[in-house]
Amino acid sequence: MSGGAESVVGDAGRDRAGDAADGRAVGPGGGGAADVVRRLGGRLAFGGDYNPEQWDESVWKEDDLLMRWAHVNLATVGVFSWALLEPEEGAYDFGWLDAHLERLHANGVAVDLATPTASPPPWFTLAHPDAMPVTAEGVRLSHGSRDTYCLAAPAYRQACVRIASALAERYGEHPAVAMWHVHNEYATVCHCDHAAAAFRVWLRARHGTLDALNDAWGTAFWSQRYGSWEQVLPPRATQWHRNPGLALDYRRFWSDLALGAYREQRDAIRARTTADRPVTTNLMLPGYQVLDLWAFGREVDVVGIDHYPAEPGPGAAADIAFGADRARSFGGGKPWLLVEQGANTVYTADRTLPKEPGDILRHTLAHIARGSEGAMFFQWRQSRAGAEIWHSAMVPHAGPDSRVFREVTDTGAALTRLAEVAGSVVRARAAVLHDADCWWALDGQGLPAASLDYPAALRRAHRALWDAGITADFAHPADPGLDRYQLLIAPALFLLSDAAARALRAYVHAGGTLLVQHFAGVVDERHHARLGGYPAEPLRRALGVRVEEYRPLPAGATLPLSDGSTASEWSELLRLASPAEAVTTYAEGPLTGHPALTRCPHGAGTAWYAATRLDDTAYAALLARLLTDSAVHPEVPLPPGVEAIRRHSPTDPTLSWLFLLNHTPTPTTAPTPGHDLLTTRDIPPAGLTLPPGGAAVLRQRA
Ligand code: GLA
Repeated sequence: MSGGAESVVGDAGRDRAGDAADGRAVGPGGGGAADVVRRLGGRLAFGGDYNPEQWDESVWKEDDLLMRWAHVNLATVGVFSWALLEPEEGAYDFGWLDAHLERLHANGVAVDLATPTASPPPWFTLAHPDAMPVTAEGVRLSHGSRDTYCLAAPAYRQACVRIASALAERYGEHPAVAMWHVHNEYATVCHCDHAAAAFRVWLRARHGTLDALNDAWGTAFWSQRYGSWEQVLPPRATQWHRNPGLALDYRRFWSDLALGAYREQRDAIRARTTADRPVTTNLMLPGYQVLDLWAFGREVDVVGIDHYPAEPGPGAAADIAFGADRARSFGGGKPWLLVEQGANTVYTADRTLPKEPGDILRHTLAHIARGSEGAMFFQWRQSRAGAEIWHSAMVPHAGPDSRVFREVTDTGAALTRLAEVAGSVVRARAAVLHDADCWWALDGQGLPAASLDYPAALRRAHRALWDAGITADFAHPADPGLDRYQLLIAPALFLLSDAAARALRAYVHAGGTLLVQHFAGVVDERHHARLGGYPAEPLRRALGVRVEEYRPLPAGATLPLSDGSTASEWSELLRLASPAEAVTTYAEGPLTGHPALTRCPHGAGTAWYAATRLDDTAYAALLARLLTDSAVHPEVPLPPGVEAIRRHSPTDPTLSWLFLLNHTPTPTTAPTPGHDLLTTRDIPPAGLTLPPGGAAVLRQRA
């Protein structure tokens, strides 16, 4: 590889999500998760990150014993091992890794072999200080942690390909290796001169000419006109609001750069190994959005995610559903893999909480119910030293004689009884629209209100469906296959392309039910305001509304609506166009009598528009009505906090598996029969009672 900005950008971004949106293409790496399951003898994956280099031989012997005991069949090895694998530039030491791979293989544990590129060794930093990332404030970071690299630095990219190639050369055909794990959580963003040069290459490819760039970014405002490409910089610290077009393009560029870096390692591995060992990277869900995950979903052979809940109790279950439904959707509905969860970790804002008894199994099942082909943890054994000494593990500091290890073992045993669900798929009838461009654009500065929060709006919509017992997908707004859903919810659809506006209108016209929430379709892909009234045409026609003016409400203020409910955060002055009707109106304030919630029959479908943030009760009631209207029903009607999620056999239409998960402290009866794989009991037609925290996985025949 040559050393310039062109080489690090490569063909990155050649098929961004907005351009090729359906996210359902099958990656070129063969059977994906099915290949992993096959290499595990047909069983679901169970295991975790394994870092034997932190321990000595006596511990390795115990690991062998305990892994067998816990039914571990897959270990992620080498994620942070670069300094040991390549102690000096170009000098490799694979002997220790050979020995661990042999040992694991002999013990019946397959390996998810990682490339160690998320943590370059100190020798690399000192030899290539220009490959260390620079913050927006201009601070160049030093080694001493992890994730400290610049994806645009040619020396770093070359070193990554070298170590990935050397690993693939050596272990490409190793019988222990079941899959490849490139890098770890692509997340570091840099603002250095290498990044600036690569950004310019990317911008030339996207915009063509400098005039087009100036036009796209609206540089006539605030005297920002660029007279040469060299004048363009990353969004570094500046005096006042950044140019939103520049800020948004930088997010797109960085995601494309990361995807290019991933492809480069993936292709180096594929060139040296057989195709039935899938290659992936672990994406960070649910809250982190440095990457366009639709684009990554198309490039990985199996979607892999890391998930750590941010609250205990049923909130953790809703959070798992949010992450898992996204993982499945980014992979086009195919089975995926939970690559990391915490054995005993719930990260809240100020504390790391332990999980409650039973959570390890139930959280694991919650991921599997939504399409994961197993469950992996970070990490196998809790570290004795180092930065993550307090992060929980399958074998805690207390050792195997502990609640956590007993629950891990029970969970591993339970998974051995679930092998038959491997390869089955979840079929959702409702979806929440999700677009990285919207997320990034609403992350910008100078917006009319601080309450415009993309992830919060996305979660609220998903949570309301979850509370109603509905398993939802996520879908890209320009997906040409939206008609596979009966109901679409569009929260915070701030940025909308012409193609997406057309796709949504066509969806409604063909019979779909669509809810669009406030401040939608107000800018295009260049972050230019839509003129003549929001939202973008032709979606506006389907909704039968024309928004003239927005009026954000003060933080904490509420506004009564005509049906007795309240609104908050936002209001809009809109005009109705026939046949749209106002369902509720504002009951106070300058917009009294104006529509707050509207409904419009369009073609064979119906489009709803919420011009404000409805209170929780009104939002739930609205979704209940939309679910009824669009004939989307829960698998089994159960109280909030008790999940019923179905995985279908891909080959036998009469066969499915119903996962029943009681995340509440109250026993619940699920009136449905089947054969419970967890207890191996037949459940009669009257159903079964799930104790507090209880779970069942019922094989059912239609
Ligand atoms: C991430 C990383 C792991 C570990 C965990 C726990 O998911 O991939 O290496 O650091 O977080 O913090």
